[in-house]
Amino acid sequence: MTRPPVIELRDATKAYPGGVHALRGVNLTVEEGELLAVVGPSGSGKSTMLNVMGTLDRPTSGTVKVAGYDLSELSDARLSALRARHIGFVFQHFHLAAGRDAVDNVADGLLYAGVPLKERRARARQALAEVRLDHRFAHTPDELSGGEKQRVAIARALVGEPRLLLADEPTGALDTASGEVVMELLHELNASGTTICVITHDHAIADSLPRRVRFKDGEIVSDSRSTPLTGEARR
Ligand SMILES: Nc1ncnc2c1ncn2[C@@H]1O[C@H](COP(=O)(O)OP(=O)(O)OP(=O)(O)O)[C@@H](O)[C@H]1O
Ligand SMILES: [Mg+2]
Repeated sequence: MTRPPVIELRDATKAYPGGVHALRGVNLTVEEGELLAVVGPSGSGKSTMLNVMGTLDRPTSGTVKVAGYDLSELSDARLSALRARHIGFVFQHFHLAAGRDAVDNVADGLLYAGVPLKERRARARQALAEVRLDHRFAHTPDELSGGEKQRVAIARALVGEPRLLLADEPTGALDTASGEVVMELLHELNASGTTICVITHDHAIADSLPRRVRFKDGEIVSDSRSTPLTGEARR
């Protein structure tokens, strides 16, 4: 049997008190192994959708399935377990814990997976090596550059080996070169099988990804796939 889509949103809406309709009936299916960009104007609902997909927020109506599980049928405890097992997050402003070194920030990514501390730290060192930060284990966030902080955040997201990585403007606070390193890491992760959704305001990044979903006023207004240009084709 084929695996269910990693994400399925059906007529998902999100209304906030005060009459804001952040999502107005969103339909989106993301298959295992996809790498997609979510683009659209500020306030169009991109982060709201990512939070709903990531089980951080529940929709007002409609259905959300992650890895085939209908979120409305799960208790908060089961939802947390699903999130811990399947989903990694990366944010624009890193969200690292101040005063904790890179290893412990990454090890925290396994806190809810029931892994003992010693193994958490061992796996954190491995994940940091994967993002090429094995020379910065003992650095706290204020001792790291922006690009390095984002690589720690990526290591924290990938240490639990999630099937799905959700990134909300991961290059938004970075210079071009650091942003490119972050995107290279996301491409590598995707090549090794992780499904990835990236919100971005950067057209060059969006255009370089195989699928682009465009938002406007809480709705998806276009969804296009292309074969990414590589090697010969780009010349
Ligand atoms: N907690 C909240 N309470 C009320 N309104 C909210 C809340 N969170 C978001 N909104 C509103 O919902 C709409 C969608 O917000 P969202 O954060 O999803 O936009 P976005 O597309 O991610 O924008 P940006 O590109 O600026 O990050 C906005 O109009 C915003 O003001
Ligand atoms: Mg946003």
